[in-house]
Amino acid sequence: MESAPLYRQVAGHYRRAIESGTLAAGDRMPSVRALMALHSVSLSTALQACRQLESDGLLEARPRSGYFVAAPLRSPLAALAEPAAALPDPAQYVGIHQRISGLLARGQHQHVHTNLGGAYCAPSLYPTEALRSAATRALRRHPMLFGEAVEPEGYQPLRSALARQALRARVQLAPEEIVITNGCTEALNLALRAVAGPGDVIAVESPTYYGLLQILESLGMRALEIPCSPQTGISLEALELAAQHYDNIRAVAVVPNLQNPLGCIMPDAHKARLVQWCEARGIALIEDDCFSATADSDAPPAAAKAWDGSGNVIHCASLHKVLAPGMRLGWIAAGKWQARVEMLKFGLSRPNEMLSQMAAADFLASGAHDRHLRRLRTRLCAQREWFAQAIAASFPAGTRLGSPRGGMHLWVELPAQISSEAVFDQALQAGIRVMPGVMFSNAGRFDHCLRVNCGTPRSAQIERALGTLAAIVQRLAG
Ligand SMILES: Cc1ncc(COP(=O)(O)O)c(C=O)c1O
Repeated sequence: MESAPLYRQVAGHYRRAIESGTLAAGDRMPSVRALMALHSVSLSTALQACRQLESDGLLEARPRSGYFVAAPLRSPLAALAEPAAALPDPAQYVGIHQRISGLLARGQHQHVHTNLGGAYCAPSLYPTEALRSAATRALRRHPMLFGEAVEPEGYQPLRSALARQALRARVQLAPEEIVITNGCTEALNLALRAVAGPGDVIAVESPTYYGLLQILESLGMRALEIPCSPQTGISLEALELAAQHYDNIRAVAVVPNLQNPLGCIMPDAHKARLVQWCEARGIALIEDDCFSATADSDAPPAAAKAWDGSGNVIHCASLHKVLAPGMRLGWIAAGKWQARVEMLKFGLSRPNEMLSQMAAADFLASGAHDRHLRRLRTRLCAQREWFAQAIAASFPAGTRLGSPRGGMHLWVELPAQISSEAVFDQALQAGIRVMPGVMFSNAGRFDHCLRVNCGTPRSAQIERALGTLAAIVQRLAG
């Protein structure tokens, strides 16, 4: 007679089925209800068995779809390594703007048939039809819209809808605390201008989103690269060390949820510590929260702003990645810098135009928004898996791969001798755009990495493009 707890017996049954190949990668597990009936167990036992298999890496949960057998895709590829030293990594940003802008321009001027370089998804993943209808309704209701002045801090119903949405990330905001911006890019610009000036040091993750590096340089600020774990985000120990060396850190700018490019999510305890740490030192915390709605779980991860007791956290976000890349809609909740941010926004660009705000507000307030996000998450999860498998099967030995728990990117670490800029150029010649690691840092440590966008559904064209990319990388590997 077996003496293991019941849930382990059930889990063992499926473990053996998976290990023997009876259940293959991608197969759907019997539903929890089916497990209850098949094994005469309770709901909690069936769930515990599935969770055990999930934590053993044998199953994966897909939002709203249940459990599936996890692909052994990562086995030929090692996971990303943790950053080596927890030391501050000072990078003077002279010239990085030109370098990044040069790469971007090269990428954008060359026509490509397959774009794996962006930070958004294929149009088919967005609710374009519903947004078009919402925009038409708004124009019908407000025929004089284009002749009227716009609302100063943004369209009130949109601010209300965003405040309701923030509740899910455990953030309490009044609509009046939110200012609508031209994407997260403007929100980040405003946040940085509010708290720092030319010459000031801003601590950033390393690697970090290249757009932030561009903004910093354009504002005459200096970035201090802090090592970032592919699992847990910015190293709090390295940040502490950095603060001991540099007394002019004005702000920490981070992406706690689904960091770009690594895809990591900071554990809540780290978010809480970071908020406290910044507050205790009088350093502003700028949180960039563009991707959290694409996290695999149905409940989005909490924002760092959720731990903000004093208004020291500036929360910047965007609808660009998750709702409509064609609308430049973002927002900022600037805490104690709100009045300054409102002034800066007015001085910089005046309020956003109304039509896209009205269409977005209409859509966010409808049940269709939740359905859209569920569908987006499910599709991204499946697409990431498929891209990861394709990369694992065709890239050279020594390649490492991140395993983000959401989002639309994979961070690929190639064997060290491969230049990501060479891959970028050769891929462009072949009609494929990818983002070279060289864009995500000024320190040269990611020159052999690539960020690959998985936001386009699987197709013969994508398969061919990944095959071409693999051949380029294999050639460069020698
Ligand atoms: C981390 C991060 N922040 C901000 C942005 C810019 O957002 P938006 O397009 O809303 O300006 C991006 C775009 O890729 C991003 O990845």
